Amino acid sequence: MTLDAFRPRQPTFLTAVQYYRATAHYGTSEIYRISLRSPHMLAIEDLSIAFGDRKIVHNLSLSIAPGETLGLVGESGSGKSATSLAILRLLPETAKITGKINFSGEDLLSLPEPAMRRHRGQSISMIFQEPMTALNPVMPIGRQIAEAYTAHHLGEPRTTIKSKVLAAMHSVKLPEPERRIHDYPHQFSGGQRQRILIAMALINRPRLLIADEPTTALDVTVQAQILHLLKEIRLTHNLAMLFISHDLAVVSQVADRVAVLQHGRIVELAPTSELFRNPQHPYTRSLLASAPTMHTDRTHPLAGL
Ligand SMILES: Nc1ncnc2c1ncn2[C@@H]1O[C@H](COP(=O)(O)OP(=O)(O)OP(=O)(O)O)[C@@H](O)[C@H]1O
Ligand SMILES: [Mg+2]
Repeated sequence: MTLDAFRPRQPTFLTAVQYYRATAHYGTSEIYRISLRSPHMLAIEDLSIAFGDRKIVHNLSLSIAPGETLGLVGESGSGKSATSLAILRLLPETAKITGKINFSGEDLLSLPEPAMRRHRGQSISMIFQEPMTALNPVMPIGRQIAEAYTAHHLGEPRTTIKSKVLAAMHSVKLPEPERRIHDYPHQFSGGQRQRILIAMALINRPRLLIADEPTTALDVTVQAQILHLLKEIRLTHNLAMLFISHDLAVVSQVADRVAVLQHGRIVELAPTSELFRNPQHPYTRSLLASAPTMHTDRTHPLAGL
C-alpha cells in the first residue's frame, strides 16, 4: 500500500481552525472538561471485523493514554494490520466493522469521510512495514515529505514548506538534509528510507502514531537504531503510539503495555514488565518461549506458535 491511500484527496482545514471553532462553540473551559472526561486518547470498544462470513477480529477492546505506547503482538494473520487499518478507516468496503473507535472524544467509525480525512496523516499518522513500497520511486524524497505537510497546510509559502521538510529530516537524523533533499528513494539505505517515512508521519505533529511492523524489513542493527529513534521521538513529541509487531522481543523494547492478539482476540493485556514476569495465557507463554534471547539455545528450532 502507498501513502497515497491515506492522503486526503481534498483540501483540509488546520487543527487550529477546528480548535478555534470548537472554542467559539463551547468555550475553553468546556473543552477542558471534555478532555478531562476522556483520559484515553484512543479507546477501542468491542471492535469486530468480518470479511463476508469470516470474522477476523472479535470484540476487541483496548485503550491508549496520551504519550503511552501500546504494543500489539500476535502471529501472522492474527488481525494486527486489520485492527490498525480500521482505526484509520482504510479497510476495503467489503469489511464489515462494528464497535466503537473513540479518538479524543469522537467516534471515528461514525465520522463523515471529510472529517476522517482531516485526521489521517494529521492527528493520526501511520508508518508502514515496507519503506520501498510506501515511497514513490520516481519522486525526490523532499517533495514526498513536503506533500505530507501541504496535504494539511494549504497556501503555505515555499520557504516555510522547505524549512519544515528540512526540520523533519533533521528530527529523524537523516544525514545532510540540505544536500539529500533532492535524492530519490533508491539512493537511500533501508534504514534511511524508514527514517524518511517516519519524518513524513511526524511532520504534522500527530497525537497518535500507528507503526505497523516498522522495523521488520530491517537488519538487527538498523532495527535497533530505528527503535531508539522512535523511543526518543515519542518522548520529545509526547506521542501516543500503537506499535505492532509479531516479535514480542521488539515490542518489549518500546511498549509500556502489551496486548497479545490470537486469532483476532486479545488473550492478554498487561504492563510490559508484568507480561514478561508473569504471563497468564498459554499463547503468551509460547510467544515468550519462542522469542530469542541472549541465552537461547540456537541448536534447536524455535518453539512453534
Ligand atoms: N481485504 C481482505 N479481504 C479478506 N480477508 C482479509 C483482508 N485483509 C485481511 N484479511 C484477512 O484477515 C486476517 C488478518 O489479517 P491481518 O493482515 O490483519 O493480519 P496480521 O496480524 O497483520 O498479519 P501479519 O503479521 O502477517 O502482517 C487474515 O486471515 C487475512 O487473510
Ligand atoms: Mg500485518
